[in-house]
Amino acid sequence: MHDSIVKTALVTGASSGIGAATARRLAGEGHNVILTARRRDRLEDLAHELGDSALPIPTDVTDPDACAGLVERAIEYFGTLDVLVNNAGVGLYDPIAEADPADWRRMFDVNVLGVLHVTQAAVRHMIARRTGHVVFVSSVAGRRVPYPHGAVYAATKHAITAISEGLRLDMDGQGVRVTNVEPGLVRTEFPTSSYTDADEYYAQKDYAPLEAEDVATAVAYAVGLPPSVSINEILLRPSKQPN
Ligand SMILES: NC(=O)c1ccc[n+]([C@@H]2O[C@H](COP(=O)([O-])OP(=O)(O)OC[C@H]3O[C@@H](n4cnc5c(N)ncnc54)[C@H](OP(=O)(O)O)[C@@H]3O)[C@@H](O)[C@H]2O)c1
Repeated sequence: MHDSIVKTALVTGASSGIGAATARRLAGEGHNVILTARRRDRLEDLAHELGDSALPIPTDVTDPDACAGLVERAIEYFGTLDVLVNNAGVGLYDPIAEADPADWRRMFDVNVLGVLHVTQAAVRHMIARRTGHVVFVSSVAGRRVPYPHGAVYAATKHAITAISEGLRLDMDGQGVRVTNVEPGLVRTEFPTSSYTDADEYYAQKDYAPLEAEDVATAVAYAVGLPPSVSINEILLRPSKQPN
């Protein structure tokens, strides 16, 4: 860790995959972590593993009032909120001609509006303190459409590119840093929303995915740099992933 100050970080989507790995990593570096997602049992198990520095607060990010309450409770408990890791997300892949519009709405609700709800509550606190850091876990799909059937998922992640760049401009002079982390393929439960078996999905690829810990390393790197350094984007792929 470059910056040895203990921080308080709220990690969304902490019940599995990249969010759980990031929470473990930040807690391992001595930070306090607020763990949020919908699956209470998963959050409580992780909080038990991490000890006193972890607080589970089950929240559905599609509920704006719940997101405001989440940030309020986190600040009440730890006294402050220094870092928000906007990681919760869902990918529902179908050709546009065949997709269920309910899936489009769900992706926009979680991946875009959910991110905005938590971000708004967090940055209000950060602006008042004139310090903070918002990290987005977006995707390489925020920069291009890497595969067929991913148009709408990629649209949600392109929205995050705009939101992260726009938030950085909004935060000019307010002491709040913004980082957009854009991973390629990562081995998590993510494919199970669209494909029944995640292992089978990864086995079809002719390259190995990143591990969730690789993305956690990128997040921790950006968070650990001194306040004078703002890493705005990190795009990371498995070395053999072509696009
Ligand atoms: N895996 C990849 O290849 C990959 C690549 C690039 C980017 N990403 C991005 O990385 C992020 C994390 O994904 P992952 O790969 O770690 O997948 P994952 O294991 O499926 O994790 C997704 C997380 O989002 C949470 N979540 C979903 N809907 C939610 C809601 N309505 N409210 C609160 N939390 C919700 C889930 O928790 P609950 O179900 O408990 O609510 C879970 O903790 C996502 O934003 C994804 O787009 C993934």
